[in-house]
Amino acid sequence: MTERAQEDTVSVTIENRIAWVSYNRPEKRNCMSPKLNRQMMKVLSELEFNPDVGVLVLTGEGVAFSAGMDLQEYFRDNEALGLGAIRKSQREAYGWWERLRWYEKPTIGMINGWCFGGAYGPLYAVDIAIASDDAKFGLSEINWGILPGGGASKVAQELMPLRKAMYHAMMGENLTGKQAEAQGLVTESVPHDELKARVIAIAEALLKKDPNALRATKWAMRRMVEMTYDNAEDYLIRTQEALNGFGGLEARKEATKQFLDDKTFKPGLGTFDITKVTK
Ligand code: ACO
Repeated sequence: MTERAQEDTVSVTIENRIAWVSYNRPEKRNCMSPKLNRQMMKVLSELEFNPDVGVLVLTGEGVAFSAGMDLQEYFRDNEALGLGAIRKSQREAYGWWERLRWYEKPTIGMINGWCFGGAYGPLYAVDIAIASDDAKFGLSEINWGILPGGGASKVAQELMPLRKAMYHAMMGENLTGKQAEAQGLVTESVPHDELKARVIAIAEALLKKDPNALRATKWAMRRMVEMTYDNAEDYLIRTQEALNGFGGLEARKEATKQFLDDKTFKPGLGTFDITKVTK
């Protein structure tokens, strides 16, 4: 096959307010080349404030989620060009992972297959990660003589119990979806033929919630990782107060009315009707 144009390295479909963003180099197991990284940043930026999109799903075409960094185009070619090229390609990759970590909309990773090394950056960046039981997760770096850089070691250390993360990084053995779930790498693992339906169900549930409250919640969960209890408590007060000025007060008044006065919903059992919020 002739080499893909940059525009063809990522595919996008928007359906019912869900943006399906796929790594699109199935013939290369969706490994991340500099071209793909540039395109991914472009696509994410375009979708972030697109009013037709309420939830973003990141997945891969074919049998892989992503086989990590492209050993030819990301490593070998840039190393031949020197430090400037190496740094540029690192910034392009790390750049879109960071954008995704702090995305303005809820994000779901649909881990459909191989997920190696550098792919742990986007895996960590998504808010909710749903894997196929058949997916395979690996910090394969040790198998080809490097350490898990690009944040991959940090992802394992942050999400997995230390004993499991250490073994995972040192041994270069793969985990199945179910093992990844048990060790904290993903939210949940489901049979492959149920994967898409499960992701759609989660996306549809998220679409019914107040988007400002969701954004404040997901950012708080990440920010608090590095905070003391007291700092977190204070941060949450400030963030809720900021949220109030961002439509939060109206949303809360309406939700409280639907529960206490109209008796049309119970917060313990579901979400209030956000379509009734008046700005
Ligand atoms: N970099 C460059 N090319 C890759 C990569 C990669 N990370 N992964 C797959 N490819 C290429 C293969 O070289 C092959 O190319 P070719 O058709 O031109 O020969 C093509 O994609 C298909 O790959 P196969 O190995 O033939 O596919 P298979 O289904 O048998 O195996 C597997 C899939 C297990 C994912 C294998 O391709 C593999 O081990 N890839 C590397 C995984 C990895 O360790 N990635 C790096 C992690 S470390 C990091 O990201 C920093």
